[in-house]
Amino acid sequence: MLKTAMGQSHAKIIFFGEHSVVYGQPAICLPVSKIKTSVTITAVNTGQTIQSRYFTGKLSAMPDSQTGIQLLIRTILTELKQEATPFAMQIESAIPAERGMGSSAATAIAIIRAFFHFFEEPLSHSELLRLADVSEQYIHGNPSGLDAATTSSRFPIWFVRGRRPQTIPIKQNAFLVIADTGILGQTGLAVQYVKNRLAQDPQAELAIEHLGQNAKQARICLANGDANTLGHLMNDTQKNLAMLGVSHPLIDQYIKLALDSGALGAKLTGGGMGGCLIVLVNNQTHAQKIATVLQQNGAVQTWTEPLRSLKHKGDQR
Ligand code: MEV
Repeated sequence: MLKTAMGQSHAKIIFFGEHSVVYGQPAICLPVSKIKTSVTITAVNTGQTIQSRYFTGKLSAMPDSQTGIQLLIRTILTELKQEATPFAMQIESAIPAERGMGSSAATAIAIIRAFFHFFEEPLSHSELLRLADVSEQYIHGNPSGLDAATTSSRFPIWFVRGRRPQTIPIKQNAFLVIADTGILGQTGLAVQYVKNRLAQDPQAELAIEHLGQNAKQARICLANGDANTLGHLMNDTQKNLAMLGVSHPLIDQYIKLALDSGALGAKLTGGGMGGCLIVLVNNQTHAQKIATVLQQNGAVQTWTEPLRSLKHKGDQR
């Protein structure tokens, strides 16, 4: 066991395929490695304590809102036969919570990595995802697993539920602006809402298939540099997500502002019903202009991300 150990992870955005991924359609997800979560575990003489933006105190006294994380920590300690080992854990995260950027999955990934490092145990990627599912199941009910897969991946991924994620190539000079509405997203509620829609409305099933088709076409556009078609696909995806009932008036308003300011495409990202949107633009100057417009209209935070910085695994030397 080490004296101190750290585990890290980062934010994610879903480029294409939120909600439809729950029903077996493919999704394209991008890591946002500059927005990080870090967990530090330190050996102490007594107690098992957590310090985070939500809670500071004993593991055993975590509030109901933190039950998923408490369950995850207990599962790790049991599996590593370290139930009674004292530790002090500090969780620091720059990922805004409940905005569709993978905050809960990133916390789980960083906690698992930190514990395995602390106890000097090997950790395979499939074990990492299996354990992350413990808290994700508790928090989201029926997660596809894509949040954990992306917050633990350095590369853009093509994700189909139940299959091993694949890294995909991106040959694009375009930029993305990510904007936070400041409204808490409601992934669990949104997933349930879509499930109810599917039970009642045949159009919803068509929308899910359409979202999957858009993800397939987007994969081709990402590989061949076709930013204009990518933008159209984002707009069409947003229409289908709105039809499923998971957009939000503020998301719609910001999307209109972005498109009126010359963006190639825009859509919500993640579970929706609040949270963040993503906007595709041709270059950095335009990205900054759109970020400023959105901020002037109340977006609480924006990030710009060059798509070309998101390297495919095979591109690494
Ligand atoms: C949440 O980030 C993405 C959803 O597709 C749910 C999931 O995949 O588990 C809405």
